[in-house]
Amino acid sequence: MKLENDPQAAFWMPFTANRAFKQQPRLLTSAKGMHYTSSDGRQILDGTAGLWCSNAGHCRSSIVEAIRKVAGELDFAPTFQLAHPLPFELASRIAAIMPEGLNRIFFTNSGSESVDTALKIALAYQRARGEGTRTRLIGRERGYNGVGFGGISVGGIVNNRRQFGTLLTGVDHLPHTHDIAANAFSRGQPAKGAHLADELERIVALHGAETIAAVIVEPMAGSTGVLIPPQGYLERLREICTKHGIVLIFDEVITAYGRLGGATASEVLGVTPDIITMAKGLTNAAVPMGAVAVRNTIHDTIVNGAADGIELFHGYTYSGHPLAAAAALATLDLYRDEGLFQRAADLAPYWEDAVHSLKGKRHVIDVRNMGIVAGIELEPRPGAPTKRAMELFHKCFDTGLLIRVTGDIVALSPPLILEKAHIDEMVGRIGDLLEVLD
Ligand SMILES: Cc1ncc(COP(=O)(O)O)c(C=O)c1O
Repeated sequence: MKLENDPQAAFWMPFTANRAFKQQPRLLTSAKGMHYTSSDGRQILDGTAGLWCSNAGHCRSSIVEAIRKVAGELDFAPTFQLAHPLPFELASRIAAIMPEGLNRIFFTNSGSESVDTALKIALAYQRARGEGTRTRLIGRERGYNGVGFGGISVGGIVNNRRQFGTLLTGVDHLPHTHDIAANAFSRGQPAKGAHLADELERIVALHGAETIAAVIVEPMAGSTGVLIPPQGYLERLREICTKHGIVLIFDEVITAYGRLGGATASEVLGVTPDIITMAKGLTNAAVPMGAVAVRNTIHDTIVNGAADGIELFHGYTYSGHPLAAAAALATLDLYRDEGLFQRAADLAPYWEDAVHSLKGKRHVIDVRNMGIVAGIELEPRPGAPTKRAMELFHKCFDTGLLIRVTGDIVALSPPLILEKAHIDEMVGRIGDLLEVLD
């Protein structure tokens, strides 16, 4: 094959405006702690923990060493009908910090795979307990559950769905919970919106409970702009699922591993689902890995109820990969030894005050926060939605701050090792730039 002249042509970038990016590339070449270094040698303060994932900061030496060590000892071993010790050790460590009763761990390689795995386990469970008519899956508008066919079917983002045909059939959606008119500038969980969980009763009445296998929601929706659950909403959803025999799945790909000030959002918010999906912070993003924590009774129904042989016809070549498992074990050690979940909880009030100081700045129509996450919603530019936030993203990057924007919402989720001075820098920079942005 003839090599093309353009060295950037071959990489088809994910979720990126490829043509615009390749006109004006932004490249990161190294990372340490709270900062990236850009290809032109600038330090960029990481306001997003990469992509909601490097919760312990970048290039932590104990994680790097753990990966190096295992790479030289056991590059790969299958976990189909054979195994190696690391995923057993890791599963026990994860189980120990999951909510009571969710102690069976299935490994994947990403959040998307965790979501599709969770949906499949819910379906297999309903069938194993003799409720095989329960095949319907319920997601939520503005949900982001990754990009597998299961995830985009239950997810609620039109752009992620419309190019891809009919998707899974037998899916319905709850309404999203975002209501600025009622809840603008809420600190923590907004007061209004618990009634939106009752929409599940409407869906049950419409389809019949005996057709519904599972409901999946993000306890806090990150990717669609930091949507914080209204007070009482998740509790109500839990009640309705229990009443109707529906499996409740929390997609905690962003919220697990410290983001909200505890091991899981379930722990922080006091609502326990039946299945939790995770990825991202599990390995501090140093090696791709996801996992699904499953209620023991669900696991036992599927596994103990099966005929001899394989009980669940599902898994990935790299489920429990040695490098990922080693990275995850070292990451969990760091979280424990540095008390990073508690650190997030302790810093949260300072973070809250800082981000809410942006109220009153130009274009800001809402600020919301929970744990070490904030959403700053800007008024869309008339006739040009998303442009204002994208310009802010570029200006921040050019002046040494990485933020994430989705629509006209700025999402902040820095590594949990941050200091108060980093918070001041982030919020100060955003405030200054908003004043000069059209
Ligand atoms: C809640 C949630 N679920 C699933 C995913 C998909 O994860 P991945 O990109 O690792 O497949 C994400 C990614 O941001 C997410 O936020």
